[in-house]
Amino acid sequence: MFSSEEAGQRLAGILQEQKARVAAMLRQDDFVEYGALPTLLIGVCGGDGIGPMITRVAEEVLRFVLRSEVEAGRVAFRPINGLTIENRIACGKAIPGDVLAALKACHVILKGPTTTPRAGDPWPNIESANVAMRKELDLFANVRPVKVPDQGIDWVFFRENTEGAYAAGSLGLEVGDVAVDFTIATTAGCRRLIRLAFEHAKKTGRDRVSIVTKANVIKTTDGKFLSIAKELAKDYPGITMDDWYVDIVAAKLVDPKRRRDFQVLALPNLYGDIITDEAAEFQGGVGTAGSANIGARYAMFEAIHGSAPRMVEEGRDVYADPCSMLRASVMLLEHIGRVRQARALERALDICMLEEKKLTVTGRDTGCTCAEFADYVISKLNAS
Ligand code: IPM
Ligand code: MG
Repeated sequence: MFSSEEAGQRLAGILQEQKARVAAMLRQDDFVEYGALPTLLIGVCGGDGIGPMITRVAEEVLRFVLRSEVEAGRVAFRPINGLTIENRIACGKAIPGDVLAALKACHVILKGPTTTPRAGDPWPNIESANVAMRKELDLFANVRPVKVPDQGIDWVFFRENTEGAYAAGSLGLEVGDVAVDFTIATTAGCRRLIRLAFEHAKKTGRDRVSIVTKANVIKTTDGKFLSIAKELAKDYPGITMDDWYVDIVAAKLVDPKRRRDFQVLALPNLYGDIITDEAAEFQGGVGTAGSANIGARYAMFEAIHGSAPRMVEEGRDVYADPCSMLRASVMLLEHIGRVRQARALERALDICMLEEKKLTVTGRDTGCTCAEFADYVISKLNAS
């Protein structure tokens, strides 16, 4: 419980921290040139719950796809252990110091889901490892594609990943009966995310970027996001920018007549979290969707779902669906400039998940195991 005066001090501290973050953003270098690296280091961090299982098979598939470069020493994989809930609790940190140092020694990271504590759980309510990693490595854009070709759905979501309700999500406070959380938007933070969304649209020949906010109610932070988008849109004359409120976007995504019109969408953090789960449901659920967390120096690729501890408790982790991690692996390959390999893996996944479907993962013994599905994907890669 805080006094009003202490609450004021907490807010002053948050402002100070955010100003320092803005200064760091403005000093930031350009994106890493992966092609120029003598050895590109891929950190593999299994996480917990079903994480280690689905991450292991994704690494196996990536090793297969990149085998000639691995043999030549141009690409190396490095295991990063210790991001389990038990170790995070034992260290009292969202990311233990040695794990963070190991992550920072890599260029890109393949990361399994990590359990996020919340009030009432049997462990202390420490910050989410995902959220901490996005902040620590300054992974400002969470890119989440959703595709259902036979329904004309081809969306790419650019979720802001270091600000919004998440920036100070562990710093809320209670003064008497009043609970307060903080939500944050910075000019530099909005600009770099929205710029990336427009650049992606331009690069991939898309002609529409939809900005999703609730700027009619959350006037200051969402208002900033929207006004920066309007300003940046002027630099992209071939692309139409439209603005939407998040509630109506949630509705229009289920409207078969309207949903095909969406192409690239840019959203503040929390709306991006919610809308991308909804969107993933169209392509078969969160188990099928990968996510790229992009920053200038680092990038991390993960599933969009959680660690499913219940599957492990019930001994079903061998049946976990690796597709989200395999889709994330496609994004990893693309990001490091291995576009040919990315397309080959994407094609193999489309055959296995959408077309031939010789094996299906159901999460139980009614379907195939995680490892069997990975072998199936590799067999298609071999055939291509
Ligand atoms: C996601 C997840 C995370 C988030 C959780 C696990 C903290 O839902 O990646 O979308 O809210 O960002
Ligand atoms: Mg989410």
